Amino acid sequence: MITRSLKRITSVWIITVLVLFVTAIIFGITMRFNQGKDLTMSPVGFYSLMTTHGITMIGIWAAAGLVAVNYLLGRYVKVSVSLNVFAFVTTVIGVLMIWATTFIGKYHAGWTFLYPLPLQVAWAKWATPVFLFGLGILGAGWLIWSVGMLLQILSKYSLKQAFAWQHFSKNPAVETPPLVLISTVSLIGIIVSLLTAVILLVLYFLEYFSGGNFTNDPLLMKNLTYFFGHTIANESLYLGLAAVYELMPESSGRPRFKTTWYVALAWNCTLVFILTAFFHHLYMDFVQPVGFQMIGQLASYFASLPAAAVTAFSVIALVYRGRIRWSLTNTLFFIGIMGWLIGGIGAVIDATVSNNMILHNTLWVPAHFHTYNAMGNVLFCLAFFNWVAHEFAGTQASVKSFRLTTVLLLIGGFGFVLMFYLGGAYSMPRRFSVYPQEFTHAAILASLGAWFATVYLVAIVLIFANIIKKCLKVFSPSFSS
Ligand code: HEM
Repeated sequence: MITRSLKRITSVWIITVLVLFVTAIIFGITMRFNQGKDLTMSPVGFYSLMTTHGITMIGIWAAAGLVAVNYLLGRYVKVSVSLNVFAFVTTVIGVLMIWATTFIGKYHAGWTFLYPLPLQVAWAKWATPVFLFGLGILGAGWLIWSVGMLLQILSKYSLKQAFAWQHFSKNPAVETPPLVLISTVSLIGIIVSLLTAVILLVLYFLEYFSGGNFTNDPLLMKNLTYFFGHTIANESLYLGLAAVYELMPESSGRPRFKTTWYVALAWNCTLVFILTAFFHHLYMDFVQPVGFQMIGQLASYFASLPAAAVTAFSVIALVYRGRIRWSLTNTLFFIGIMGWLIGGIGAVIDATVSNNMILHNTLWVPAHFHTYNAMGNVLFCLAFFNWVAHEFAGTQASVKSFRLTTVLLLIGGFGFVLMFYLGGAYSMPRRFSVYPQEFTHAAILASLGAWFATVYLVAIVLIFANIIKKCLKVFSPSFSS
């Protein structure tokens, strides 16, 4: 059931996520202007900002997906508001600790905190344990919250029903809504990735406090890091897709999506393959057994293709020749699907071993992940925010007033990522504060990228302004659920 307190905490999350998002975009634009030589930052300043930007963005959009799924699950199962509030508190504490390490302590090992960087202290000594501890608090909150949500699903649906296995035979007695199926698959992935993060953090602390008596195995640490990082980043996207399945038909005035055998099969495949696709991050680690590299390539294809094919098919069937009432909500869902598919193609190209020999650690990498995040998952979550804000305010989404916002979003967003793709195609390296002279066009592309990102920022601020007033309504004393 969707209670008033669930609406209030959802509103608090939305406002917090949007404030952090606008701030993190400004960090991103600052970095891109620095790469474009339009402004000058010290290398330490750049990498501290890159670390803050990366971890904040990954964190807020994982959290936003959990917020959306938690709210929408309230339509089918009983959800716990206390766990939601608990996760919010741990998130705020975690973010404050992490930001303190990067801004005050100048910690700058990147959001992936790849071993042994955090232990090669090139910043305030306290920053390493505080960064790792902050991550631990944040992760623990989400882990408990995600386990809670999964248990709530399982209190109504058996495990087989949650995976929609009964849909493999004709006329199933119980229907599993797509939201429940996709949430189950994604929450399991999130839980496994967060448990891995716990192991990783314990190993870091063991080495940190051992006084040199214990050292970790770098290859094991890299496998654990990418299992965690790749999985959480991708599962966040699937949480966003759960909202697409639940709300896109509804906000378009069309019949709800149903779980069919092929939808069930695609999402069950996704569960398995998403957990093994991370091996594509280790293609350049030649000591890794060759079999793992093969699994990496195949799992990258199988993790993305079934879910993408089924979703694209469902969305095309929804909009093709149908009478759609286009509002900001379903427009954001639609553009988000486009961004997700384009970014996904970029990712599959990079995950192919022969291509990765050329594209590895070039700007192709931020190109594809910014596409399916900034123009994919972010838009899924913004669509949910917009839909729920209207629900809070008891208003209907207007049809015309968002045209300017859409145009700015499309030009700014796709222009911004195009500059990364061009850089990647010319083998420009990623994570360079200032590009080497040999890359004659790198600074121009960076500068253009920053201007496009500024246009994207304007669109985001317009959406934010539209949402925030409605979200605040839930705090008015006269608000009734
Ligand atoms: C318009 C908005 C954004 C701008 C201007 C921006 C800009 C940047 C820039 C310049 C970098 C460094 C690229 C490099 O040289 O390697 C970067 C890295 C990154 N960005 Fe964004 N970004 C934006 C949106 C996002 C979003 C929505 C996400 C969501 C997940 C995100 C996640 C990341 C991550 C994870 C990194 C890597 C950090 C690291 O390597 O430690 N960014 N971004």
